[in-house]
Amino acid sequence: MADDGADPELFDKIVNLSRRRGFVFPSAEIYGGFRSTYDYGPLGVLMLRNVKEQWWRSMVQLRDDVVGLDAAILSPPAIWEASGHLQNFTDPLVDCRNCHERFRLDKLDDPRTCPNCGAEDSFTEARQFNLMFKTFAGPVEESAAEVYLRPETAQGMFVNFKNVLTVSRKRPPFGIAQIGKSFRNEITPGNFVFRTREFEQMEMEFFVPPDDAGKWYEYWCEERYRWYVDLGMPESKLRLRAHDADELSHYSSGTSDVEFLFPWGWDELEGIANRGDFDLTQHSEHSGEKLEYFDQATGERYVPHVVEPAAGATRTTMAFLMAAYDEEEVRGETRTVLRLDPRLAPYKVAVLPLSRNEKLSPMARDVLHRLQPHFMTDYDETQAIGRRYRRQDEIGTPLCVTVDFESLDDKAVTIRQRDSMAQTRVPVEEVVDQVANLLDA
Ligand code: GAP
Repeated sequence: MADDGADPELFDKIVNLSRRRGFVFPSAEIYGGFRSTYDYGPLGVLMLRNVKEQWWRSMVQLRDDVVGLDAAILSPPAIWEASGHLQNFTDPLVDCRNCHERFRLDKLDDPRTCPNCGAEDSFTEARQFNLMFKTFAGPVEESAAEVYLRPETAQGMFVNFKNVLTVSRKRPPFGIAQIGKSFRNEITPGNFVFRTREFEQMEMEFFVPPDDAGKWYEYWCEERYRWYVDLGMPESKLRLRAHDADELSHYSSGTSDVEFLFPWGWDELEGIANRGDFDLTQHSEHSGEKLEYFDQATGERYVPHVVEPAAGATRTTMAFLMAAYDEEEVRGETRTVLRLDPRLAPYKVAVLPLSRNEKLSPMARDVLHRLQPHFMTDYDETQAIGRRYRRQDEIGTPLCVTVDFESLDDKAVTIRQRDSMAQTRVPVEEVVDQVANLLDA
């Protein structure tokens, strides 16, 4: 373990587990891979959906002041002109004249020494590199047809502010939430799915009366930190860090990051930004549409300020995997177990007949069919039962239901719990209720 508690070995363990068990595959692997893009496999897609579902539940479903949106990914330059991304969404790039490696100047520990070859003062002048992906709409590749893949979901909420205000009959304070893919031509992608060129975000723009922005900023910092804790992240690996003035984005008057202790040290999971009236004012000026709120009660007209919690779904999924990873000694053997919160676990329950046997299969399949409508359920009848428990532990399945030869007579099954390995016998008629109770507990 490193001094600050970071665990560098954990990184390889998670990458290996992800590949081996089907959480995350390198993209286009049969063609040698496509650098730093990833595909989510059978388990990864389930877990990523669960992370997004939990975010949506807490940000939209359980609130009466936030509504949802799913805006287009392709967008006209006008949006990015107004948002400031065309001018400001850049990274400073330098090349080493000696080894020809390329680096982000702002990420170098020592801006004079090449971290690759050690050469001194070998860097070129910094060039500003825009991170947005550009493409063309229609058959002609000309500047009039240029469009961008969105580098954040946020602008979709700002340009739809008026639409949503009109149809939802909400009034500030209220929010618009969105989950979706974003694209950035990152110069230094890396650390597995931590920084990729294609990723998923979960963002919410909360529109408030200007005088209340500070209060809501504090509220969302606290609320978002709690979300991770509630889903099982240990507080020893989580912190809220306020940005220094020189770290702030071009739009922000205050930002705090929720940070996780990754294997390489503390790094960002989510940013909560106090964006002021920057976005609505910019889009108002560029589009000619008034983007403001008229308060009929007070007769006041104002441009709402915005507090934005912006999280990464793909990055957060990896952090939950890392937080859940555990190894323990059980009867002289190492057991790998993902102690995932049941709400995030890919499968909630697995049905395991004691052995592959034609007498057991019908009953085991009956149990499977009882559970499937309620829970994501796995079914596995190959290998020894002990091996199969371990396979489920390793992917975080909270419960296993075993059907044995006695089950045929007593019409009961055994439920085995992942964390305690405790086993309880329950009548097959009660299996759905019992599984639901254990998952809730
Ligand atoms: N609208 C504000 C915004 O986009 P950001 O800090 O650039 O803010 C928000 O992005 C979150 O999106 C980050 O905290 C991170 O979790 C995720 N994210 C950003 N760039 C990413 C990348 N290249 N790969 C994976 N996740 C990324």
